[in-house]
Amino acid sequence: MTHILHRAIKHHYPTAVAGSGIFIRDETGKDYIDASGGAAVSCLGHSHPDVLAAMRAQLDQLEYAHTSFFTSRAAEDLADDLITHAPDGLGHVLFVDSGSEAIEAALKLARQYFVERAEPQRRHLIARRQSYHGITLGALAVGGRAWQRKQFAPLLIETHHVSPVYEYRERRSDETSAAYGERLAQELEAKIAELGGENVIAFVAETVVGATMGAVPPVPGYFRRVRDICDRHGILLILDEVMCGMGRTGTLHACEQEGIRPDLMTMAKGLGGGYAPIGALLLHDKIFDAIAGGSGAFQHGHTYMGHPLACAAALAVQRVIRRDNLLANVRSQGAHLARRLKERFGNHPYVGDVRGRGLFQGLEIVADRGTKEPFDPQLKLHARIKREAMARGLMVYPMEGTVDGARGDHVLLAPPFIIDAPAIDTIVDRLADSIDAATAQ
Ligand SMILES: Cc1ncc(COP(=O)(O)O)c(C=O)c1O
Repeated sequence: MTHILHRAIKHHYPTAVAGSGIFIRDETGKDYIDASGGAAVSCLGHSHPDVLAAMRAQLDQLEYAHTSFFTSRAAEDLADDLITHAPDGLGHVLFVDSGSEAIEAALKLARQYFVERAEPQRRHLIARRQSYHGITLGALAVGGRAWQRKQFAPLLIETHHVSPVYEYRERRSDETSAAYGERLAQELEAKIAELGGENVIAFVAETVVGATMGAVPPVPGYFRRVRDICDRHGILLILDEVMCGMGRTGTLHACEQEGIRPDLMTMAKGLGGGYAPIGALLLHDKIFDAIAGGSGAFQHGHTYMGHPLACAAALAVQRVIRRDNLLANVRSQGAHLARRLKERFGNHPYVGDVRGRGLFQGLEIVADRGTKEPFDPQLKLHARIKREAMARGLMVYPMEGTVDGARGDHVLLAPPFIIDAPAIDTIVDRLADSIDAATAQ
């Protein structure tokens, strides 16, 4: 008997009692390889001694001071660290407690920016189908996951959606990747023309799509075109790097690989690495200057924002990643993981596509490789795969609705940055057994 409203009421969740490196142990003593970092969170693995030491040291000094009274050394140090390594022009940071809150803050700050600049007619937000930006109402409204939005639709603010980059299914066979990217850019142009460029606040996108489609990278040149289009209309570009950021794809920020910088950028999961709840919003100097020279305050705040313990944890996580050169490991082990997945699943009857970047890889599950027909959603194949994987001591992150928010299944892998090749080989073996068992039922 539990008094928690768990995510799925009928599901029995094992009780996690310990974590160490890439493993989580339940109360029966069974170990699970954390091959998804939870949901792309645990970038350093579990119980990293340096992070725990930094958190203990912070608690010995100061546990909390409300941000309307004080700043804290921990928050200032983390802000300095993030801005030192931020894309050009992003000079300030707002701390929050989750990815959804970071997106909510981005949407509101974008709107306030235009109000401060005497452009109050700007009211439209454009995002992409098949995206996930979080679960609170604003984040859900810009998100493009149909099944999650449906019952809350009457409560959602008006937003507009264009196509995601989804090469596996949506690039035409007579089209190059570049031509496909150009077609998507033109779709965005057309949407902006329909709304009136002077009425649009922002375009919101995950640099590499995570939870909804399973590690889908953009085609080369797409984001450069998006950046140009936004600039031409004075529209802000909000990149959501809550899942794909902070090293997950092999560079600190996923947008570095696109050769662009956003105006607002969200981060969360890998920022605190699971050691404490924290999210952040990085903002361009032009936005900071507009507010500093205008009303003087962003009308927004949370009780726990900039929590010293969370900031100390996040700073320690980021320092360990740099000190131990873990992004090099993300790149080399990411290449190993991609290679092993392609070897194992490249001709698998039920795996249509293997994709991703760095230690952020996805498999799209299909009933028929030739036609790309997904499995019947009633079969809940994603849930079966998860169950089979957990039975084999493996945590992966399978999801439904990959194709259109209703049909399709994928599996997301996002192991900790400390992973090595033998562990990756074990992950791939256990995953193959899990998929075989799930599809044989
Ligand atoms: C890209 C993206 N944005 C926002 C969120 C929401 O983050 P949180 O669950 O911390 O609210 C997520 C979570 O999966 C995400 O993947």
